[in-house]
Amino acid sequence: MTTTDVHIPAVTAPEPHFVWPVVDEATLEAVRAQLVESVSVYDRSGVVARVEDALARWHGVRHAVLMSSGTCALHAAYVAAGVGPGDEVIVPAYTFFATASPLLQTGATPVLVDCDERGNLDPARVADAVTSATRAIVVTHMWGLPADVAALRAIADTRGLLLVEDTSHAFGASVDGRPVGAFGDLAAQSLQGQKPLTGGEGGVLLTDDDELYYRGVAIAHYNVRCKREIPATHPLARYAVTGLGLKWRIHPAAAAMVEQQLGVHDAVRSGRDACAARMAARLRRLPGVEVLLPREGEQGSWYALVLRLDDALLAHVDADTLVERLHREGAVEVDRPGSTRPLAQLPLFQDPGGALPAYAGRSGARPEDYPAANDFFDRTLKLPVWHRAADMPVVDQYLDAFDKVWAELGL
Ligand SMILES: Cc1ncc(COP(=O)(O)O)c(C=O)c1O
Repeated sequence: MTTTDVHIPAVTAPEPHFVWPVVDEATLEAVRAQLVESVSVYDRSGVVARVEDALARWHGVRHAVLMSSGTCALHAAYVAAGVGPGDEVIVPAYTFFATASPLLQTGATPVLVDCDERGNLDPARVADAVTSATRAIVVTHMWGLPADVAALRAIADTRGLLLVEDTSHAFGASVDGRPVGAFGDLAAQSLQGQKPLTGGEGGVLLTDDDELYYRGVAIAHYNVRCKREIPATHPLARYAVTGLGLKWRIHPAAAAMVEQQLGVHDAVRSGRDACAARMAARLRRLPGVEVLLPREGEQGSWYALVLRLDDALLAHVDADTLVERLHREGAVEVDRPGSTRPLAQLPLFQDPGGALPAYAGRSGARPEDYPAANDFFDRTLKLPVWHRAADMPVVDQYLDAFDKVWAELGL
């Protein structure tokens, strides 16, 4: 081998290149103190009450119920919404599957609706998909870019439907200064390890509506919290001992981590704002690349920075090859997510009856019916958005890797 054969990648920084969440002394101390105080909180007290109050305040709604996962929070939203067999619920054709999969535990039919050019549920298509059986519209703010919630809210109001927001990607995102999660009748958010607000695992259900709150409490809790939160005159009060038969309490250590992360969130988000701007300034110069950014009046959460590749670029090189080349340059965090894909490509949505008897004989989704979701999936790459000044040398090496790959491909 001669020296000219040695490949020196653009990214030479040691891995891991992206660390999230930052678990520092403050995080460890918060969790330690909580473990000493209590390892199970079964009413709305202590860290659970503090975090629920903080999240409700943050969103400007009256109620928050912490849960063990975002998936559970979404299921709770659907149970609270009262959907069941014979009901249709409009869900995004492109999202993480757990936005829609808990619906399959209710007997309701998920009706997939295609996305706009940013990967978010397209309100124009939603309006066409509403039928007399539709009960709710579900929207995810994909990768932290707000969906067109004003248009979706208007459709929901005009047609008498509930709007459910899946804000798992989007804590910290807003539209005209109003946080996402405040537009829906219900919002569900994952607090899983990678998310913009995280307790490692966890979720939260948000609502401004007392009735939806009582039902959300009844599915996530039993006994003490149900007795204390659901008024004695409410029809669910007599079920307080059992709740609705499930239990989705958050672990208090996770809640303590969420509380600590909430305290640093603003600093993290502004660090991500600066990093996203630095990345976008260079990436948008690459031929064939559109960097998806918040529109006027919107704030993104920067769960990821999404790059849309145009037809001319894809005629020259496919997205998988680009990822391979970027990885070879050491930019290993560049990603084409696998499980976050058009739902109609997944067996659970193509043939739910094969796994869930309640859906036997019902037709499922066909991939070819969602061309915009397929197209978005096929032409996007994503990158993490860093937040610390100390991360900027790695960020710059990643940007160098893009320049190098584009130059080598003669783009
Ligand atoms: C959009 C979206 N919804 C729901 C979920 C499910 O959340 P959890 O993993 O906390 O159950 C995720 C998790 O990745 C997600 O990305």
